[in-house]
Amino acid sequence: MMSRTVIRGGLVVTAAEETRADVLVEDGRVAALAAPDSAYAQGWTADRTIDATDKYVIPGGVDAHTHMELPFGGTSASDTFETGTRAAAWGGTTTIVDFAVQSVGHSLREGLDAWHAKAADRCAIDYAFHMILSDVNEGSLKEMDLLVGEGVTSFKLFMAYPGVFYSDDGQILRAMQRGAANGGLIMMHAENGIAIDVLVEQALAEGRTDPRYHGEVRKALLEAEATHRAIQLARVAGAPLYVVHVSAEEAVAELTQARDKGLPVFGETCPQYLFLSTDNLAEPDFEGAKYVCSTPLRPREHQAALWRGLRTNDLQVVSTDHCPFCFAGQKELGRGDFSKIPNGLPGVENRMDLLHQAVVDGHISRRRWIEIACAAPARMFGLYPKKGTIAPGTDADIVVYDPRAEQTMSAETHHMNVDYSAYEGKRITGQVETVLSRGETVIDRRRFTGRAGHGQYIARDTCQYLD
Ligand code: URP
Ligand code: ZN
Ligand code: ZN
Ligand code: ZN
Repeated sequence: MMSRTVIRGGLVVTAAEETRADVLVEDGRVAALAAPDSAYAQGWTADRTIDATDKYVIPGGVDAHTHMELPFGGTSASDTFETGTRAAAWGGTTTIVDFAVQSVGHSLREGLDAWHAKAADRCAIDYAFHMILSDVNEGSLKEMDLLVGEGVTSFKLFMAYPGVFYSDDGQILRAMQRGAANGGLIMMHAENGIAIDVLVEQALAEGRTDPRYHGEVRKALLEAEATHRAIQLARVAGAPLYVVHVSAEEAVAELTQARDKGLPVFGETCPQYLFLSTDNLAEPDFEGAKYVCSTPLRPREHQAALWRGLRTNDLQVVSTDHCPFCFAGQKELGRGDFSKIPNGLPGVENRMDLLHQAVVDGHISRRRWIEIACAAPARMFGLYPKKGTIAPGTDADIVVYDPRAEQTMSAETHHMNVDYSAYEGKRITGQVETVLSRGETVIDRRRFTGRAGHGQYIARDTCQYLD
């Protein structure tokens, strides 16, 4: 049965343009855009009309970095695919790309199968996977080719976490060479984990055990060094590179230098690095644990370089690295030893709003908001134009956004399955009103109307910046 929805009277904002247009949605896809007063648009009949007067009509957000149910540090991220994707929908995100994990001693296939099993029939919005390589060897290198063929076209490697996810430079070089050959994009967690582990050991031996020391031992210079090394290894391999969760000004400088040379090097940052700082990590009574993630939050002075990078396109994407752990019972595992605090922050619900606030605050333009939150992540990870824009033929993943609504972020009102908000009490101008996922209303004027299992797995194309 053909279903038709018309969204009338809004300002359609994409990365490319802003136009007053009515949008016709037919059978889950955008069928047409037309001027509101045109006879063409006036002639559309529909099962449902959404009034978007004084609202923005924007593409659903694409969050290219989430960790639902990730086992980490003896516990598991507290959002399941069901709760996490529902929260994402509330926040105007309609696609996530989550990280399937290869465990040491096991195949990529086993890891990917396990993540498919966790996500299948549970997601409220569409989802795709990257693969974390924890054990680069002949077998896993061969498997990379197969995964690219199945739409898992990006692979995360870690220069940090020795003994867990860590790859040495030789393994990294081999994986990059393989990616260069098969079209897979290498994503790098760029921190010198070997050096960091020495500093962790020394800090703990000296009784520096509070959360704030997490930020002190994971030094900006060790992020910059690893970023530099990753770039050089990628050059040697002839491979493109995407650096995840960039937080240090010095790391942005490495990316800028590489891009000025014309190298296919890309960077992602996250809202926590743009809005939070080491001041949060230093909060008393172990509250700082709420802000422990890696790369760590930096002194406030780093934020200007991140905003600048987002404006100059030296950073292309803002993802959340959503990896929530409850304060009670999870973050608390690290009382008396910051190295045992599970790493990660909640945020999948907050990203679109925080970046809209950045528009209000004058850091970025409205179109740049859509670029870094929707279009660029979709292009980077082979989802465009199905996802990331509004045009005839694209999936009708559409958010009606009220740019004037006022809200206060809080754990009391958010929908993520975690007992605190990293942005508790933060005032935001702007709020998601209605969300369509492939034409189905999943949020209807701030009521959840979606369902677990609506979300479909998406096999991705390779990075579209390299076409
Ligand atoms: O602290 C973080 N970022 N936790 C998630 C794992 C990762 O490194 O992305
Ligand atoms: Zn196995
Ligand atoms: Zn990481
Ligand atoms: Zn992550």
